[in-house]
Amino acid sequence: MKVTVVGAGAVGASCAEYIAIKNFASEVVILDIKEGVAEGKAMDLMQTASLNGFDTKIVGTTGDYAKTANSDICVITSGIPRKPGMTREELIGINAGIVKEVSSNLVKHSPDTILIVVSNPMDTMAYLVHKSSGLPKNRIIGMGGALDSARFKYRLAEALGAPISDVDGMVIGGHSDKGMIPLTRMATRNSVPVTKFLSDERLVQVAEDTKVGGATLTKLLGTSAWYAPGAAVSALVQAIACDQHKMFPCSTFLEGEYDLTDISIGVPIIIGRNGIEKIVELDLTDAEKAKMQESAAAVKKTNGLLEV
Ligand code: 2OP
Repeated sequence: MKVTVVGAGAVGASCAEYIAIKNFASEVVILDIKEGVAEGKAMDLMQTASLNGFDTKIVGTTGDYAKTANSDICVITSGIPRKPGMTREELIGINAGIVKEVSSNLVKHSPDTILIVVSNPMDTMAYLVHKSSGLPKNRIIGMGGALDSARFKYRLAEALGAPISDVDGMVIGGHSDKGMIPLTRMATRNSVPVTKFLSDERLVQVAEDTKVGGATLTKLLGTSAWYAPGAAVSALVQAIACDQHKMFPCSTFLEGEYDLTDISIGVPIIIGRNGIEKIVELDLTDAEKAKMQESAAAVKKTNGLLEV
């Protein structure tokens, strides 16, 4: 199993680290355009192999896509991250050109690859890759919901005073501060709805804290987060590599599901060796359906800024 990660910034390096440390891939290639950075991070990570007990070979390259040839999975983290006070949508001008070029180079060298899109604005970037790469829709996965759901579980555990392994929950909708839809109604603690333990007001707070999860970290760090995004990517890569048939909410191209068409947005999907195996349609309440339509309208507005 060969995995390429484009972008050797903090997110890309975390993706490579978590994938390697889980020891299921034979090779991880890190590619960046900044001279020597990918090679340096790859070497540094390789020097953790004996300490952390993995055999994955990590290779770095400055812009040589030939080294990525025949990757089973490619992860696109390239582009600029947001700074405090910025929305993900504001990154579109620079990131759209980068993501289009990167995805086209990746597909040229790995026509059978599955692409995981991380660059922001993530739903629009996943849509751009769908429109421009020629890959079938089951092989394009936008990472956002997997990350947002991890942040939701963190906030739920905090509110419940429970360990995170006790809680389950999902965030669907767009990967944006306003567009995320944490499904508090369906979240559980060991199969008991969290609504049994938390008041409506507390759950509203949990949802709001989840939605600004990325912005909160950007304010603290001065740039966007990397550990949880890297871990979310590695979980998706593992689900594909190990054919796990696992369910994650991810940005997926829709053709009528959730009453939406011509859009990539976060919905639950089953992920296995062929990428997206199935889109799971949840029975949403009228209020949740309305939020989904509102979230989709915002994503479509950002998509409208693309030149595809
Ligand atoms: C985040 O929410 C990188 O968009 C990503 O942290």
